[in-house]
Amino acid sequence: MIITIDGPAAAGKGTLASKLSKKYNLAYFDTGMVYRAVGLELMLAGISPEDVEKATDFAQKLTFQRMNELSHHSEFRSANGGKYASVVSSYPQVREALLQMQQNFAKNPVFADGSKADGAIYDGRDTGTVVCPHADVKLFITASPEVRAERRYFEFMSRGHQALYADVLEDIKARDKRDSERATAPMKPAEDAVIFDTSALTIDEVYQKAVKIIDSKQ
Ligand code: DC
Repeated sequence: MIITIDGPAAAGKGTLASKLSKKYNLAYFDTGMVYRAVGLELMLAGISPEDVEKATDFAQKLTFQRMNELSHHSEFRSANGGKYASVVSSYPQVREALLQMQQNFAKNPVFADGSKADGAIYDGRDTGTVVCPHADVKLFITASPEVRAERRYFEFMSRGHQALYADVLEDIKARDKRDSERATAPMKPAEDAVIFDTSALTIDEVYQKAVKIIDSKQ
């Protein structure tokens, strides 16, 4: 079984995907990681995220191993890391270079320890539309920018990052705009996706809703 969960930043995709991966024994791919990894390569090399050629070069060379190494860096999930990721993800050449790597994951889905999974669950912006257009279940999770900024703000705090709520909100709005207005693979629900707004729902309510949808489609 392949499940995709798309939606804007901090809508709760990651939390939901982790819970569902355990319930259905699915290997989880957080696809934002590929863009964060390319952004961080640029940052570490002191190269501007505006440098399309260098970004494409790093994207073409990216491996799972390198992505996992970079994911331990403190800037990987920082506000600045998110900005770099959002900028590089707007380049068609970068998206193209990272597509195969994302699609291959579903061909032989395995957990981090190498054991075999019963399928894959993806989260991102275009996993139901571009990465896995034939997924069995497609969800599109959203919430208001204010609710998402609050969630991201507390996430930064819990990781020990300094942030101001107003800055996080502004950043979320800028990222929404970039993610949904880019020419290649803009963030949008697949035609056959089930859309739900999590602004007024608890994590458990979102999870129960998703389980019902998945069980009804199986
Ligand atoms: O989900 P995230 O915040 O880790 O994603 C980081 C950036 O990567 C985000 O601004 C948009 C981009 N992204 C994308 O364009 N397509 C995806 N499938 C996943 C993420």
